Order: sequence, then C-alpha cells, then structure tokens
Amino acid sequence: MFTIVDRQELTKRDMISLTVEAPAIARRIRPGQFVILRVNETGERLPLTVAYSDAVAGTITIIFQVVGKSTALLASLPIGDAIRDLAGPLGAVMEFENVGTVVGIGGGSGIAVLHHLLIGYREAGNRLIGVIGAREKDLLILENEMNRLCDRVIVTTDDGSYGMHGLVTDALKDLEEQGERLDLAVAVGPLVMMRAVCQMTRLYDLPTIVSLNPIMIDGTGMCGGCRCTVGGERKFACVDGPHFDGHKVDFDELMRRNATYSRDERLSLLSSVRRG
Ligand code: NAD
Ligand code: FES
Repeated sequence: MFTIVDRQELTKRDMISLTVEAPAIARRIRPGQFVILRVNETGERLPLTVAYSDAVAGTITIIFQVVGKSTALLASLPIGDAIRDLAGPLGAVMEFENVGTVVGIGGGSGIAVLHHLLIGYREAGNRLIGVIGAREKDLLILENEMNRLCDRVIVTTDDGSYGMHGLVTDALKDLEEQGERLDLAVAVGPLVMMRAVCQMTRLYDLPTIVSLNPIMIDGTGMCGGCRCTVGGERKFACVDGPHFDGHKVDFDELMRRNATYSRDERLSLLSSVRRG
C-alpha cells in the first residue's frame, strides 16, 4: 500500500496533485518516466505521469485530471488513505544533453510532464524557456514552479483571461520572430497541440521531443495497447518512449487510436457520478 501524504486541487476543474510515499520509485525515477497504479484490488490500471520526485522524502507527486471513473475514484482519496498498487518507474530512461537553449512547450495537464522533463534539461546545464498554455486562467497549473525552474516563462490563454491571448504555438512563433536562439523544443500536451508544434518546428529546423500518452494497459510492452508509429516503425510508448522525435510521429494514427474509448470513459464517469 502507498500512503497519500499530500493532496491539492490545482484548478477548479478537477486537476489533482497527489504526493504518495513510494521510496523505491522515488530513488530510481528519472524525469519523464511514469507509473501505473491501481486504486484498489478491482481497479483498472491507470498510467500516470510524475511531476516531481523527492528521493530524500521517499515521495513522488502525480498530477492528473479527472476524466473517467478511475481518476474520479483516485481524486476522492483523502490524505492518509492509500493506493493499492503502484508500479514504476516505467518508460525508457531519457538522455539529457546540454544543447544550449531548450524551449519547453506545455498545454493543459501536459505542463506537469513538461516540468519533470525540464528538470532533466536543467540538471544537464541548459538555459530554459517555458511556454505554458491553458484554455483559461483557472485551468493553468504549475506557473510558480515553472517560474522557479526556467530562465523565462511565457503564459498563454486561449480566451485571453491571463498572459498572452492565444495558443502556445502563437508564443513559439513570436519567439522565433524575435530571433530568440532555440536549440531544442520539448512539447507535451494534447495531441493536436504537439502536432501543431511539430509542424512549426519542422519549418524552423528545430529538433523537437514530444511525450506521447497513448492508451496503456500493462506498461511492459506485452499488450500492444500503446502502439504508435514513429519514423515508419512500430513502437510501444511504454517501453520505447513515451518520448520520441516529434517530427517522426504519426499523430493522425495516434489520435484515431486514442479516440477509441473516449465515449466509454465519459459514460463510465457519468454513471459513477449518478451512483454517487
Ligand atoms: P487543452 O485542450 O485545454 O489545451 C491546452 C493548450 O494547448 C491550449 O491552451 C493551447 O495553448 C494548446 N493547444 C490546444 N490545441 C492546440 C492547437 N490545435 N494548436 C496549438 N496549440 C493548441 O488541454 P487539456 O484539456 O488540458 O488536455 C491536456 C491533454 O494533454 C489531454 O489530452 C491529455 O491526455 C494530454 N496529456 C498528455 C500528456 C503526455 O504525456 N503527452 C500528459 C498529460 C496530459
Ligand atoms: Fe501494453 Fe505498452 S501498455 S504494450
């Protein structure tokens, strides 16, 4: 059992941060790796990204949005309660090189993964520019943490309620037009956002890493649920990724695969809410 030692609601719209005692994972996890958990014995396996880890305290912090029955159940657990199973760290270990200036582009809940990845690029000695966007001010997460980590942060909101009015790609375009020297882009967020970022950075000849979040079940490369196509080759995001060269990812295929169960997720969330 893995005890919850802190719980915070990051936005008014069901974005939850849970800090959990998991000393063995906290000691070994590297930025960008993830965990799979089961809330209880009959629960489904939930792949979740880790926003921070603290090897000394023996804790990891997961940030997630309530999108279905299982995330709703996880979000209902109070401090002191425990999660039944927690497997990790999962995913390939990334190499973080000193390339110069890294621009990290995060959309919505993807900002949590971006933050973890940027810790790796910071440790490698890079200069960091963060571009973080949300639909509206109340949905923005980790602004303070990004300000602490990065040399410069640009915030965008789709509705103009905070920061620059526009999408993260508008801020990236501005950076390019201002002549900001960028050596690597790291993008995490909805697939449409990562696809749009990659379309731009391809034009700028800017290497781009993305973090994919396909459907995952076992997290060990056995079930095939997280299959995606990268550079014309079949990859399993749980063991080969989840980080890939964004210019090689077949985003359209991944969007089709990810849409398979979205209706069922909405229905299961609705039915669990109705049951109370
Ligand atoms: P959202 O739809 O609110 O979008 C967040 C931001 O992304 C927007 O404010 C905008 O700046 C940008 N964006 C969205 N569509 C764009 C487009 N077409 N072109 C350019 N920029 C665009 O995001 P959300 O509702 O918070 O959803 C977050 C998504 O991130 C979910 O789909 C979730 O599955 C995904 N996610 C991915 C990972 C990962 O590892 N890849 C991790 C966590 C969450
Ligand atoms: Fe099963 Fe990746 S989650 S192969």
